[in-house]
Amino acid sequence: MWLRLLGGLVGALWRSRLELTLVGAIVVVQRVLAGLVGAAAAWGLVLGLVAVVLAVPRARGWLRTALRAARVRRKWWAAWTDCGLPRVRAGRVTSIPAGELVRVRASRGSSLGHVEHRAEELAVCLQVREVRVTRDRENAATGTVTLVRRDPLAGVASVRWPQRDAAELSLWEPIPMGVNELGATVSVALPERNVLLGGEPGAGKSAALSLLVATAALDPSTRVWLLDGKLVELSVWAPCAQRLAGPDIDEAIELLRELRGEMEQRYRELLLRGQRKVAREDGLPLNLVACDELAFYLGHEDRRKQKEFAELLRDLVARGRAAGVIVCAATQKPAADVVPSALRDLFGFRLALRCNTPQASDTILGQGWASLGHDAATIAPVQRGVGLLLAEDGLPVRMRGFHLDDADADELAARAAALRADVWLSNGETRS
Ligand SMILES: Nc1ncnc2c1ncn2[C@@H]1O[C@H](COP(=O)(O)OP(=O)(O)OP(=O)(O)O)[C@@H](O)[C@H]1O
Ligand SMILES: [Mg+2]
Repeated sequence: MWLRLLGGLVGALWRSRLELTLVGAIVVVQRVLAGLVGAAAAWGLVLGLVAVVLAVPRARGWLRTALRAARVRRKWWAAWTDCGLPRVRAGRVTSIPAGELVRVRASRGSSLGHVEHRAEELAVCLQVREVRVTRDRENAATGTVTLVRRDPLAGVASVRWPQRDAAELSLWEPIPMGVNELGATVSVALPERNVLLGGEPGAGKSAALSLLVATAALDPSTRVWLLDGKLVELSVWAPCAQRLAGPDIDEAIELLRELRGEMEQRYRELLLRGQRKVAREDGLPLNLVACDELAFYLGHEDRRKQKEFAELLRDLVARGRAAGVIVCAATQKPAADVVPSALRDLFGFRLALRCNTPQASDTILGQGWASLGHDAATIAPVQRGVGLLLAEDGLPVRMRGFHLDDADADELAARAAALRADVWLSNGETRS
């Protein structure tokens, strides 16, 4: 009992070592000076010294950061102790606009899985909005815990797409999609990828899809194929498209058949060239297939046509990668009864905009992300365009999507159509 008390006391002193060291240093300096100039004058000198140090912005910032980090580490210790977790130590603490990033290390016999499972209780103890855990890839014992205190994307109004004034773009280059919680631009590189976008009505799926289509439109070497279950969402890009299918399953099937023909032709070309896949320097075009309201086609009342559509699309997603076919599809909820999992699982990149439930968020991003704190149901309904992007780094990134308003989209589509016409004329080509 006494031993435990003593252990507790030593632990508490150790966790407050920074504050104790600072107070100790002040007392020691005062004592030394008191021997020379007297106690009162020594206090005056020490307080003056402290004031001078605090007047230097760098020193003040360092002290504030160090004290905040020490406080967070103490609270972390108290939280996992209160939750009865095996030991997970907190290390470096970094402030970010959303709260703090805490480097953590699980002791032997513990694991970061414990933190994942008890994230809600830990959030309560720490009095934060959310606790998110990311394990390091190379070491299961270490990782980063994000203590989310506020949503830095909450107050941000719509952010215009930085590429809207570009004269020409390349689909081979990464496409800026939005800004993350640190204010940095989040991009996706589409070649050899397929993107699934999901979210509740009005969450911003069509807006996000239009950034991908706009990039493809401004790349005259890319062929754009549009499927639009509403017709009005993508029609602005029609002058740049190889083909546009509206809310008509026969048209959509025709489009996919034609595209499959192109894909097979491309594979024959690659075989002749002795290549396995399309590369940027080949000059072979990429094909971007944008499908808005995927559920319209996959939920068609004619089961035979519905199945044919699903099979054609699945084939393009499955085999199109090396032939330069990129499929980007948007739908409200890609649950298995709407999007067959054989199709859904082939999409490598996912963008989950606001969802009603954590389950819906997981349907878009993949099983399990919501319980790790990556849950699109936590996005407020007013935050249109905010979502979680799961792309190259394999971890969902919360971001506010860039926005192309109707006027920008009209102007950009007209510019892209003119650019394409110029290129076709100068190449002496005609549209097929
Ligand atoms: N990134 C964004 N920034 C600001 N506003 C946005 C953004 N994305 C969407 N919005 C706003 O939200 C509205 C709805 O967006 P959008 O039409 O893309 O939603 P949706 O998910 O496609 O809806 P639905 O399921 O009904 O088709 C837009 O008209 C726009 O005003
Ligand atoms: Mg839409």
